[in-house]
Amino acid sequence: MPTYNKLLVASSKGGVGKSTTALGLAVAFAEAGKNVLLVDLDSDSRSLDMLMGAEDHAITDFGDVIDGGEVSAAAITPVSAIENLRLISACSVDKLAALAKDKEKTQAELVREGIERIIEEKDFDILVCDTGGGIQYACAVVELFDMTVITSEQGKTSIRGAEYAAAQLEAKGAGAMRLVICAFDLEAVKKEKRAGMIEMIDSSALSCVGVVPFDPKLQGMQDKGKLPDKKSTTAIAYGNIAKRISGYDVKLFDGMKKLYKQRTKAL
Ligand SMILES: Nc1ncnc2c1ncn2[C@@H]1O[C@H](COP(=O)(O)OP(=O)(O)OP(=O)(O)O)[C@@H](O)[C@H]1O
Ligand SMILES: [Mg+2]
Repeated sequence: MPTYNKLLVASSKGGVGKSTTALGLAVAFAEAGKNVLLVDLDSDSRSLDMLMGAEDHAITDFGDVIDGGEVSAAAITPVSAIENLRLISACSVDKLAALAKDKEKTQAELVREGIERIIEEKDFDILVCDTGGGIQYACAVVELFDMTVITSEQGKTSIRGAEYAAAQLEAKGAGAMRLVICAFDLEAVKKEKRAGMIEMIDSSALSCVGVVPFDPKLQGMQDKGKLPDKKSTTAIAYGNIAKRISGYDVKLFDGMKKLYKQRTKAL
C-alpha cells in the first residue's frame, strides 16, 4: 500500500464540497496525531480561514510564500483548530496579479513555485491543498501531489464535473485519484428523489474513497467558523476517509449507527 501524504482536493464545479473536504481531511489527520499543513489555493473564493474561525488572524498567506517568505512564517494555527494543524490562507486575487506582474510570470507558474517550496521544506507529515472550481491551479500543481481527491455532490451534473476534472488532471500527470461524494442525502434516496450510491459510482470511472452524509448542522457551524463536532457524521465520515487513504479497511458508514443500519437503502 503506497503512502499518500500530499493530497490535492479538486473539482471543476463550484460548491461541491472541496473546502469542506480539504478541511475535514486535514482535521481528521491532525486528530490522528499527524503534523498537517493545509493550504488554500482558491484565490477567487478563499474560505478556509473563515471555516476555521481565523478570518481576522490570517495576516500572512500563500502570497508570502510565493514572494520568498518562509513557509513556517506564512502558516498560522487557527484558534478553532488543533495544535498540529496549520493553515496557509489563499493569496488574494489582487496580490497574486501584482506578484505575477512584478515577477513577469503567469499566476499558475507562481502557484506551482509556491507549492514546490512548501514540498521542499518538508515541514509536514500531511499536506492538504484546497483548489477552486475551474481547476486552473489544480492543473498547474497536480503532478507534485501523490493523491488527488475529486469531490462531487449527489447529482449527475456534479458527477460529470468530477469526471471532467479527473480527465483534465490525469492529462497533467495526476497520481492516484479518488472520488468523495459530499452531502449525500439518504432520505432522498429512500424516497427515490435522488441517485443512490451504486448509480453514482457506476456512472463514474473514479474509484470512490468515501461518502459524507448530508449534515443539516454543517452550514451553521461553518458560518460561525467552528469545526464540526467530533461526534458529528461529518467528522466521523472524514475520519473514515482519512483512514482509508492511509490504507485501513474501514466500512463506509463505520461509527454512524443510524446510517450503518440503513446502509443497504443508500444503494
Ligand atoms: N456533508 C455536507 N452536508 C451538508 N452540507 C454540506 C456538506 N458538504 C458541503 N456542504 C455545503 O455545501 C456548500 C459547498 O461546500 P464547499 O464550500 O465545501 O464547496 P466548494 O467546492 O469548496 O465550493 P467553492 O467552489 O465555492 O469553493 C457549503 O454551503 C457547505 O456547507
Ligand atoms: Mg471552496
